[in-house]
Amino acid sequence: MARISKIHTKEKLTLLEKYLQGYVTATKGAMERYYLDALAGDGQCEIEIPGTSRTQTVNGSPLIAMKLKPGFTKCFFIEIKKKNIKTLTRLLKDFPQNRYKIREGDCNLVIDEILSEIPQEAPCFAFLDPEGFEVEWSTIEKIAIYKKGRKIELFILFPYNMAFARVLYYNKKRFDKENIALLLNKTLPYNSWIDVYEDRIKGRLKPLEVRKRILKIFTDGLKRLGYKFVDWKLIESREGRPLYYLIFTTDHSAGAKIMKHVLQKDWIRGQISFLDKLT
Ligand SMILES: C[S@@+](CC[C@H](N)C(=O)[O-])C[C@H]1O[C@@H](n2cnc3c(N)ncnc32)[C@H](O)[C@@H]1O
Repeated sequence: MARISKIHTKEKLTLLEKYLQGYVTATKGAMERYYLDALAGDGQCEIEIPGTSRTQTVNGSPLIAMKLKPGFTKCFFIEIKKKNIKTLTRLLKDFPQNRYKIREGDCNLVIDEILSEIPQEAPCFAFLDPEGFEVEWSTIEKIAIYKKGRKIELFILFPYNMAFARVLYYNKKRFDKENIALLLNKTLPYNSWIDVYEDRIKGRLKPLEVRKRILKIFTDGLKRLGYKFVDWKLIESREGRPLYYLIFTTDHSAGAKIMKHVLQKDWIRGQISFLDKLT
């Protein structure tokens, strides 16, 4: 049984698919193009249909990437859970085996190995889709500096409310200061969070200001890694509660243009037809 997710997961996957369709079309002149999904999941999601007790199965990011036309030369999927690997392997079995590789493991530990299989001169797009603090900043750094020419484009779920807010507004029983430092040092660039944390603890910042500053630390970090364009969209629950940011970064103006177009659309709230498809 696939994970049961809320409708915002469909929004995320729709944004990914819309962008990837633009990406494979824009890079069709290149001899090869690659896709890296460092937290691949099991290939499917069960989406709750709002206002009903029903769910609908939709393709997860690996299947979205594999089904695009023109296709990626090869897709690399990293997944830590054996059970998910098994389902993903089953769902991909009808695709030619030379078009994908599934690697079981912790993305932070196997990233060098997987990157070494991606030709440095070919266009490459990476999707990082964590549920919490799984992706280390050092992994983002490795992806960012891997290629000599154009950088690997990155689409990242930045789990502000699912992870960072929980720690910054921590429950003393669950997180002591040492644990907080450990988590934030691993996942944010350059110990940059300390001032925000101190200001937050001393009550000098409102929650919205804390959120904006943490987001800025992350997006500034991406720029310091050499990315020219960083764009993002806040994903909210249907009740308007902030959940996470989808952050896109590239050093290619064409990629920036396509993503700007994709992120500006309000795929859920603006498009009744999209919801109709689910109900
Ligand atoms: C949000 S799900 C990914 C969903 C997928 N992108 C999709 O759209 O269908 C995150 C996945 O990452 C896996 N995961 C968690 N920590 C990981 C790690 N350190 N390395 C690789 N995979 C990890 C989880 O088991 C889970 O399947």
